[in-house]
Order: sequence, then C-alpha cells, then structure tokens
Amino acid sequence: MSGTPPEDRVARGDALRFRRPTEADYLRIVSVVDDWWGGRTMHVLLPRLWFQHFTGTSWLAEDESGRLGGFLIGFRSPDQPGVAYCHMIAADPNLRRFAVGRRLYERFFEDARAAGVREVHAITWPGNRTSVAFHRSLGFTPKEGAGTQNLYGTPAVAGYDYGTEDRVVFTRKL
Ligand SMILES: CC(C)(COP(=O)(O)OP(=O)(O)OC[C@H]1O[C@@H](n2cnc3c(N)ncnc32)[C@H](O)[C@@H]1OP(=O)(O)O)[C@@H](O)C(=O)NCCC(=O)NCCS
Repeated sequence: MSGTPPEDRVARGDALRFRRPTEADYLRIVSVVDDWWGGRTMHVLLPRLWFQHFTGTSWLAEDESGRLGGFLIGFRSPDQPGVAYCHMIAADPNLRRFAVGRRLYERFFEDARAAGVREVHAITWPGNRTSVAFHRSLGFTPKEGAGTQNLYGTPAVAGYDYGTEDRVVFTRKL
C-alpha cells in the first residue's frame, strides 16, 4: 500500500460515493486497469462498448473530489435472464481491504435481485489468489468435479477461454 496512514485510508473508503458509470468515465477507468491488476494486460478486456451499453447494471465508486475508488462492470444475461454476470471488478490499490469491492458487489446483487435474477456468475484466473479469496468471501463457490482440476489450489477449468486460459468458474446464489 502507499504511505497513506491507515486511518486516512479508512476515512477515504468510508467517504466513497457509489453511482452508475457513464461513457465520460471510460478513459480514466481504462487507463488504470493494467496497473490495478498488478501489471497484467487487462485494458483489452475493457473496450468503450462497456460504457455505452452496460452502464445501467454497472457501478463506480469515487471520493468527494471525484477520484476513482473502484468499479464493477456487469450485466444481466440476455440468454439466461435468471443469471447476472460480473465482467470486471476492481478497487484502487490504495483502498484495498476497505470493503470497496464488497460494497460494489452488494449493489450489483441488489440490482440483480430486483430484476428477478437468481444467481450471479463470475470467472477469474486461478493464480489471482486475491480474487479467489475475495469471491469466496462474498459467498461465491467454484465449479468443481467433471471438467475441473486443481489449479493454484482452486478447482478450475483448464483452457476455459481461448483454449489456453484457465479460469475458476464462480457462482453465487442470491
Ligand atoms: C479483488 C478486489 C476487487 C477486492 O477488493 P477489496 O475492496 O480490496 O475487497 P474487500 O475489502 O471488499 O474484501 C472483502 C473480503 O474479501 C476477502 N479479501 C479481499 N482481499 C483479500 C486478500 N488480499 N487476501 C485474502 N482475502 C481477501 C476478505 O475476506 C475480505 O473481507 P475482510 O477484509 O473483512 O477480511 C481487489 O483486490 C482488486 O481490485 N484486485 C485487482 C483486480 C482483480 O483481481 N479483480 C477481480 C477479478 S475481475
């Protein structure tokens, strides 16, 4: 974490406001994602279309000065109306473990329940142990059994995306 004293970070986390993103938020969000994922190339998963067609089911957190604290990009499945899917979620590295991610998901769950959705899906790279711990902590369970194998200590589907990218396939009942 940065040199910001812990009490200041708590105060900043508590002061966050949550709202729907708009297309005007696109460039500032896409410009931080590689850094927020620890240097992984993630911006390719976030073209502008997410901020044109999915803002009504997504969330953004920011402080009083408008500084970005976190975001969640998600949607209700057009093919499976009982399912909502979280495409990306992240918190500012200087605000980690202050429930930014939890509060983003809580809002997403609330939207989903109100729309009659029964479960939320998300996938993550099994080597992203923070994401695995975070999703488990929020009540997600990984797909297990046939078609999965233990990768980095978590049941995961090898080659799930592109035939080469391994993923933990998470579900959370609402
Ligand atoms: C995953 C991520 C969104 C979590 O956000 P966060 O705001 O730090 O998480 P929260 O403070 O809401 O944590 C909720 C719970 O998740 C678990 N958790 C979160 N980070 C954890 C970590 N580093 N190690 C272990 N457990 C963790 C804890 O149980 C935590 O509850 P607690 O703090 O009361 O113990 C954040 O680490 C992040 O942005 N990572 C990079 C992007 C990413 O990998 N996104 C997920 C894949 S799309």
